[in-house]
Amino acid sequence: MTVTIHSFDAALGAEVRGVDLSKPVSDTDFAKIERAYNEHSVLLFRDQDISPEQHVAFSRRFGDLEIHVLDQYLHPEHKEILVVSNVEDEGRNIGVPDAGRYWHTDLSYAAEPSRGSLLYAIEIPHDDKGAPLGETRFASAAVAYDALTDEMKARIENLEAEFSLAHRFKKINEDFDPDAELNETQEEQVPSVTHKVVRTHPITGRKNIYVNEGHTFRIKGLPAAEAESLLSDLWSHIKRPEFVYTHRWRKGDLLMWDNIPCQHIAIGDYALPQRRYMHRTTLKGDAPI
Ligand code: SIN
Repeated sequence: MTVTIHSFDAALGAEVRGVDLSKPVSDTDFAKIERAYNEHSVLLFRDQDISPEQHVAFSRRFGDLEIHVLDQYLHPEHKEILVVSNVEDEGRNIGVPDAGRYWHTDLSYAAEPSRGSLLYAIEIPHDDKGAPLGETRFASAAVAYDALTDEMKARIENLEAEFSLAHRFKKINEDFDPDAELNETQEEQVPSVTHKVVRTHPITGRKNIYVNEGHTFRIKGLPAAEAESLLSDLWSHIKRPEFVYTHRWRKGDLLMWDNIPCQHIAIGDYALPQRRYMHRTTLKGDAPI
């Protein structure tokens, strides 16, 4: 099989064809995939049938993996896998039920945020006509940055913002789930951190807007009302349709994304008995530059 890359008709994303991830990927094919990942930010591999071991092994080709702080949702045998699911067992969620309900990048609340994530679809909810539910939208915060006015670029260039996972939980509690909880030990592991509002990709050298709706709660040195208004302008800008790719899931999709230049949101338009069950690995990253 020859590996080929097919760009989406969108600001970001491409499908990789000719790869069976249940088998070892040659160094030549891997190099092609890695180049495509840096270029397109989101890569889709359709019709995969992989075990947790194979998922972890392919993810490791890109670097070390995170063990997610929400340890109650880790795969029981493979701690590198975070279960993302609305499925319950004896009234308890077996996975993160609301992994991405606000635009965010994974682990941007950490001092060394994740480089990327690989999400594998095992069960997908559907409506009564058979159309998939629970889509995931991706926005290129790099293309969005390029489209800012020079005045706005100059205004945000040297600003820094604060990010926190506890902040996201507070929003979830207020907006839709009063019971979602970050326990004390978990909260201590991820104290709030400061990152630049504009981040530069260490490989491509491209700049992108890094503040996100899910984890950013303050801009340092700005009065609260001014910070809120600036963040709200940037977030409305990032999610403009021309910067967004919407992924409609099929069972067997493995989707990977770059957590530096793209933000994502998961749409919660389904509920039990419609089941959504996915495995996510998360690549470690470096402190932003
Ligand atoms: C995530 O934010 O990592 C999960 C996205 C999804 O559930 O579609």
